[in-house]
Amino acid sequence: MRILFVCLGNICRSPTAEGVLRTKLAKAGLAQRFEVASAGTGDWHVGKAPDARTQAAARKRGYGLSAQRAQQVDPEDFFSRDLILAMDRANLAHLERMRPEGSPAQLALFLDYTGAAVAEVPDPYYGGEAGFDEVLDLVEAGCDALIAEYGGRR
Ligand code: 4NP
Repeated sequence: MRILFVCLGNICRSPTAEGVLRTKLAKAGLAQRFEVASAGTGDWHVGKAPDARTQAAARKRGYGLSAQRAQQVDPEDFFSRDLILAMDRANLAHLERMRPEGSPAQLALFLDYTGAAVAEVPDPYYGGEAGFDEVLDLVEAGCDALIAEYGGRR
């Protein structure tokens, strides 16, 4: 199963989700059944490593994100991924607008898998440090829910 996480800049939320899901899949012995990537709807940070605050918050919980580099969502992604998961509704709406007609990828809000009251992973970029820890809380819950949903199949 090929999963693409999408946020705005691809330097905070979606790289966190990529790193957390990779680690959780490896621990569960499921890594070989998934291909995990992330991208942004915006292009400002293309080629950059994740935000230093994002990396620091992830490192505290044992996730290393330093090898990741930001990329922008490409129309080809709608053919080469099975599941494209948006961090918030604005990015989901952007993806729905750019989706090529007839492309097969399934589009959804990432946190829909958790069944939790929180629907969106809030953008931490302009806020304080606590926002980066909140991203990790939500992303860890979302990844656990994703594995519960798809880890047993195929
Ligand atoms: P992300 O956070 O979408 O979680 O990567 C942001 C990163 C950069 C900007 C906005 C959000 N920015 O405006 O540059």
